[in-house]
Order: sequence, then structure tokens, then C-alpha cells
Amino acid sequence: MLVGGKGTRLRPLTVNTPKPMLEVAGVPFLSHMLTRAKAAGITRIVFATAYKPEVFEEYYGDGSRFGLEMEYVQEVEPLDTGGAIRNVADRLQSAPGDPVMIFNSDILSGMDLAALLAEHETRGADVTLHLTKVADPRAFGLVPTDRDGWVTAFREKPQRPEDIVTDQINAGCYVFRREIIDGIPTGRRVSVERETFPGLLAAGSKVLGVVEQSYWLDLGTPGAFVRGSADLVLGAITSPAVPESTCPRYPEALVLDGAEVAESVKLGAGSTVGQGARVAADAAVYGSVLGAGSSVGEGAVLRDSIVGRGARIGAGTVLEGVVVGDGASVGAGNELLQGVRVSCDAVIPDSSVRFSHDPS
Ligand code: GDD
Ligand code: MG
Repeated sequence: MLVGGKGTRLRPLTVNTPKPMLEVAGVPFLSHMLTRAKAAGITRIVFATAYKPEVFEEYYGDGSRFGLEMEYVQEVEPLDTGGAIRNVADRLQSAPGDPVMIFNSDILSGMDLAALLAEHETRGADVTLHLTKVADPRAFGLVPTDRDGWVTAFREKPQRPEDIVTDQINAGCYVFRREIIDGIPTGRRVSVERETFPGLLAAGSKVLGVVEQSYWLDLGTPGAFVRGSADLVLGAITSPAVPESTCPRYPEALVLDGAEVAESVKLGAGSTVGQGARVAADAAVYGSVLGAGSSVGEGAVLRDSIVGRGARIGAGTVLEGVVVGDGASVGAGNELLQGVRVSCDAVIPDSSVRFSHDPS
């Protein structure tokens, strides 16, 4: 499990918490992935850590709470994706020809992991990649295949229009034959996407692509993060790790332990109200994630926004597509729109201007 990325695009949320440990639908995002891995028959997980390594072990420990065996390997300097995979090789128990599954840790997906593994084995591949199709592939690894599914090229984050040769992208879940992992160079940064995959193709290795278009989302940006969280709450993608809501009067929201939501509040579109968070009268919260211990003032309106732990949103304030860092305070009567990010512990004073808005 590759968990060492810095989560740059999710700052300031990732200043205090590594991306895979951000709460999504009530639990650290990783718990959804681990539950799925276990359901597919995986029994042992090795974490490749670099950024905030201690957080993972503190939460998951030896994995017994999850019915999994867990180990942690910390990189001294981040080794990038391929280097991270190589760096855990001595902790793998698989024989040289055995399959090892590798996961990017920010993917919410309904793909059939057991079927991917079976395909890898039957086709006798060295490496098998889960591929999906997206409308705009530029933020991903482009992976064209021939008619039998063998990968013909791997282009990470193509910039030039002539490189956009397919809508098939690397979905961030692989099966490697163990000995391929042992062949990655040690002790330096290696990108599996920019170096290992193109290298394997140049050397004539059998790299298979399995296109599977079940639910798939990379939660690496604020927009995708709120969408994935809302989809889990609304059941567009199911995960056994989603806890029960404590407030049945809002069927389209997840209210966690100790949260207080006033009677007159409108709450829906897959919102989550974190543990001990408070939402005051007449507020409206749609498609948003409210962190543990955060508060939303009277009549505030939030859409598609993320509010960090312990952050405070003042009365009548409007947030749309905004990320508020842990412990920040946005005063009353402000209006913050698309793409605005408020740093952890920042203080925005009450606004003296009255914005008119339609709270419906
Ligand atoms: N241990 C470790 N060390 N892990 C790392 C490091 C590192 O130095 N750098 C990145 N990772 C982990 C991240 O934590 C994440 O789980 C995974 O590697 C991929 O990093 P992202 O930052 O999420 O990459 P991306 O989303 O831009 O692109 C990747 O995922 C796309 C699918 O979502 C690539 O694999 C693309 O080819 C792919 O299409
Ligand atoms: Mg990603």
C-alpha cells in the first residue's frame, strides 16, 4: 500500500494528516480500501510510508482490529512510487513467481480485485494494471493496449495533444510478479509510472491492462474528495466501513457520534457531520464534509466544501467549493467561493458587508 505521498493538492487538509488518513464518510479513507482488500482475500498488508509515517501505525497497529496482518516500512527520503515498492521487497512473503498487489492509497473504486488477480494468473502476465476510462486523461497515466489487452505504451501525465492517444488510464492498482519487484533498482527514487513501466515495455515484458469501468475516483483534489465522500454517504459506491448515522432524520447525510444538528438545519447531498461537530439553527449543508469538533453558525450555507477539525464557520457565512484548514475560524457574514483555501488556524474576521444569498 503506497501511502507516502504528500497530498499537496489537498493542502491545507494534509498539513496535519496524511492524505490516506483523512476522514471520508466517517473513517480514514484507507479503511475503505483495506476493507475491500480483505474482502478480496488479501490477508497481509505492507505499508510503504514516507510522509507522516507514524500516523498509520498509531491507527492500524498490527492490523488485528481489521482482521489483517500489517507491517510498516518507512523511507528515510521519499523514494517515489517505484522506489517505495522496491523498498518493501524484503517484507514480502511471496515466492518469485507469486503475485503481489500494489495500491495507490487515494483511489475509491468498486473494481473486482479478485478478477484482476485471476486475469493476471491466467494470462501469465509479469505485471497487470487495472485501467479505467476518463473524459480528460491528462492528470493520469495514459495506457494504450492492443486488441488482446497487452499494454503498448505508458505515458504519465501527457502534456502534448499528440500524446493523448487513448482514454484508458492507469487506475492505480497493480498485480506484480514478485521477481519484477526485486528487479527495481534500490536506494534511489524510482517512478513506477515514468521509469519502471516504460522500462518493462522496452524490455519486452508481458504487461497486461484490464479495463474495468466500475465506480472509480482518485480523491487527490478537493473537488474529487467531496464527491467521493458524498458518493459513499449516498451509497453510489458502497463500503462496509461506513459507520451508521446517529441522526436518521437526514437520510442523505452521515452524522457521527456526539454531533449536534439543530432542528431547522437543512442537511443533505451526502454531507458528513464529524464527531462532536455542531451545526446551528437554519444552516444549510450540502455535499460537504465537516471535520470532528468543527462548528457551523446560524444560517450559514455550505456547498461542496471541506471544513477541517475544530474549524469554525460564522453565522450567515457562505462557502462553496472551499477548503478550510484545521482550527481555522471564518467570521460571520463572509462569502468564500470556488477554490478558496483557508490555512490551518487562520482567522478571518466577521464581514461588515451584507451579502445576499438564497439559502434554499
Ligand atoms: N511510499 C511512498 N513514497 N509513496 C508515495 C511516494 C513516495 O515517495 N510518492 C507518491 N506516493 C504514493 C501516494 O501516497 C499515492 O498513494 C500514490 O503513490 C500515487 O501518488 P499520487 O500523488 O496520488 O499520484 P497521482 O494521482 O498524481 O497519479 C498516480 O495515480 C493515477 C491514478 O489515480 C499515477 O499512478 C497515475 O499513473 C495514475 O493514473
Ligand atoms: Mg492520486
